[in-house]
Amino acid sequence: MPGDINSFFFTLGGAEANENAIKAARLYTGRHKILSRYRSYHGATHAAMQMTGDPRRWANEPGASGFIRVMDPIPYDFSFGTTDAERTANHLRYLEEVIQYEGPHTIAAMFVETVIGTNGIQPPPEGWLAGLRALLDKYGILLVCDEVMCGFGRTGKLFAFEHFGAQPDILTMAKGLTSSYVPLGAMGVTDKIAAHFRDNVFWGGLTYNAHPFCLAVAEAVLDVMLEEDMVGNAARMQHVMLAEMAALKARHPSVRDFRAIGLFGAIELQKDRQGTRMAPYNGSHPAIDRMMAFFKQEGLFTISHWWTLMCNPPLSITEAELREGFAIIDRGLAITDEAVEG
Ligand SMILES: Cc1ncc(COP(=O)(O)O)c(C=O)c1O
Repeated sequence: MPGDINSFFFTLGGAEANENAIKAARLYTGRHKILSRYRSYHGATHAAMQMTGDPRRWANEPGASGFIRVMDPIPYDFSFGTTDAERTANHLRYLEEVIQYEGPHTIAAMFVETVIGTNGIQPPPEGWLAGLRALLDKYGILLVCDEVMCGFGRTGKLFAFEHFGAQPDILTMAKGLTSSYVPLGAMGVTDKIAAHFRDNVFWGGLTYNAHPFCLAVAEAVLDVMLEEDMVGNAARMQHVMLAEMAALKARHPSVRDFRAIGLFGAIELQKDRQGTRMAPYNGSHPAIDRMMAFFKQEGLFTISHWWTLMCNPPLSITEAELREGFAIIDRGLAITDEAVEG
């Protein structure tokens, strides 16, 4: 683990890691409010659902008080600017104003997915995470990075925060920790926070926390991941993925946009040449459903999310396999192309 995150509480999954991170942040700071972003998913347990910004939260409302959600530096429609410098500066100014309204002394932590996962595989604008770190430090608010989806090599570095020049106080993780073979999540904390909990009880515990079977699987998975340099493979495959995506955009009128960091990528789909998203927020489109059925029939397993097609292949994928996958996507996009109006 880079930096000074050396103490871990092992859970059974990502949501539990976030629940415990909320508890740790509250106990450590003596404050109760939690900031998070709308373009986010943090898990399906009670508090993790309240932090979650996407529509999966709605059915769980009213939840608990003290969860404050803010817009992202790159929201879906609203714009904080056209350049990364503008987005970073304007968003952090907006966030500081929210912090003032809420009362900095009441805010324990801000949770962010270092690279947004299901809500569009979206890395932060340049300078944003380091700027956020400085802003939160100014008010004694902890930074929690949720790397349940983007951690463990997915972005071409072992942890996504290593790309952005800022270290969180608390890191949450799961999925890649065991390659999802068995249930395991973790909350990692800095030495300073760990020292606090040596003198003060951490009021947490699960029958199965730090289960030896799951930890043995994690050790084996991490050995293979490091020995076979899968993190390096994810970094090397990024340019293949981006080149394949650029070629798709040039050929297919239904491709709106694309992005990838390591082997973490997404293709956005549009229903006209003006860039109208193919599906609305929280919606779907029959052509996307047909394209997904085609992929399954061709042996390509991935998921779509509203108007976005996720491109998150295994970290062990070879260049030839990746290109084979994109050849199937190329054929599938003929289906969404037919739905493009005008
Ligand atoms: C970013 C993020 N955080 C938390 C979770 C919740 O993890 P779990 O489903 O293991 O509880 C997920 C799951 O998809 C996730 O993507």
